[in-house]
Amino acid sequence: MTRRVLGVGMVAIFAGVMALCTLGRVWAVDAQAPVDYTKITPIELVKNTPKGKLTNPYKDTQADIVAQGQQFFLSYSCSGCHGGGGGGGMCPPLSNDIWVYDGDDDTLFRLVTLGSDELQKQGYYRKGQENVVGPMPPFGAIIKNADDLWKILAFIRSKYDGDPAYKYGTPPDQR
Ligand code: HEC
Repeated sequence: MTRRVLGVGMVAIFAGVMALCTLGRVWAVDAQAPVDYTKITPIELVKNTPKGKLTNPYKDTQADIVAQGQQFFLSYSCSGCHGGGGGGGMCPPLSNDIWVYDGDDDTLFRLVTLGSDELQKQGYYRKGQENVVGPMPPFGAIIKNADDLWKILAFIRSKYDGDPAYKYGTPPDQR
């Protein structure tokens, strides 16, 4: 009799522990769930992410992503100012090693989303001098979601033709 009660008790405890583990795992997965960039606007992402923490999930070696980014670059008319290959036109080139505010993913994402004026209000300043100086308009309300913008930025990276050390802006040991 005692043995049976003990057995049932053990089973109950075991089941409880298993349930807790499963729950714990579900919570853990939830907490670490990667952001679905297709479901968040660039403006929301900028607002919800601490400064310096935005990183492109894509690489400029992903040819399919770069091709999609190029399409967006044209369809959102970035090319109208920066030239079809990002090499500059009426506006600064995106392909050289001079970065106006800096060239890391976080700064570029915020600049395109917020535009120059709002970026400067948030404490950024022009440290790189391009041949053309003017304000970049805000595109955060125009670009459909953050995923589109990450693809555009992957395309821009693929066009880089400057000193490899400055591809992502000021190297970390010089910041
Ligand atoms: C009306 C013209 C115009 C359009 C359209 C435009 N830009 Fe710009 N862009 C600028 C100007 C001007 C600057 C320089 C900003 C500054 O000095 O504050 C700039 C700067 C940039 C930079 C930083 C370049 C550097 O060297 O640091 C990036 C990246 C960029 N634009 C991407 C884009 C993307 C992506 C789009 C389309 C979604 C776009 N731009 C559309 C005018 C434009």
